[in-house]
Amino acid sequence: MRTFSGLATTLCIACASPLAVTAQTTGQDSDIVFAEAMWTHMETRGLVGENTVHTLPYQGTQPHGALLETFYFTTTIEGEDGVLVIKRNYGPADVTPDDVLSDALSHLGSVTVMFRRPGYDPEHQDWFYAKYLHDGTLDTNADGVALAGAPARGMVGQDPGAGCVACHAEAAGGDYLFTTDAFGHD
Ligand code: HEC
Repeated sequence: MRTFSGLATTLCIACASPLAVTAQTTGQDSDIVFAEAMWTHMETRGLVGENTVHTLPYQGTQPHGALLETFYFTTTIEGEDGVLVIKRNYGPADVTPDDVLSDALSHLGSVTVMFRRPGYDPEHQDWFYAKYLHDGTLDTNADGVALAGAPARGMVGQDPGAGCVACHAEAAGGDYLFTTDAFGHD
């Protein structure tokens, strides 16, 4: 019996990692590891970094930047299948589409990303959020916490200005996306 239960525990630990989703935290090691893997995934596909594909940048809204480009994919990251939404945020305030298309990296303020991870945060449509600086470094909030995971999740319904989840919860369609309702949860 002893041996059997020891074996069962070992098996259980093995099956809990590495695919188990760590839910609803912000800036924890597991969030940072996932966000870094997500950046590498995007870089490999030519979506961030040098020589990326471009669309015609469009006028942005607060808080995301003067001009924006947004891309949508269904993809697999670290074994998890989900919708990936990438937003490139350009500045300064008077930046033009020509500035962006001729020299995107020096006008890129940040890259904000949402990836819907199965089971990550069922209460809030399973979105994992990350905000990167132009070089792929994770941005931090005022307390120095890396913006990876579910920032301001605890402020939903209270203060949309508090951060990603609290504001995206206000998006029409209940899917946490402002630009489209095409990816509503099943
Ligand atoms: C105060 C509100 C607010 C906050 C806070 C906010 N966003 Fe957004 N976000 C928006 C709005 C509005 C849009 C639509 C912008 C546009 O016109 O493309 C948007 C668009 C996006 C999109 C494109 C998908 C969509 O919703 O259509 C991504 C990805 C995104 N935000 C990521 C983030 C991340 C990551 C954070 C936190 C670091 C964040 N956002 C914080 C308001 C917010």
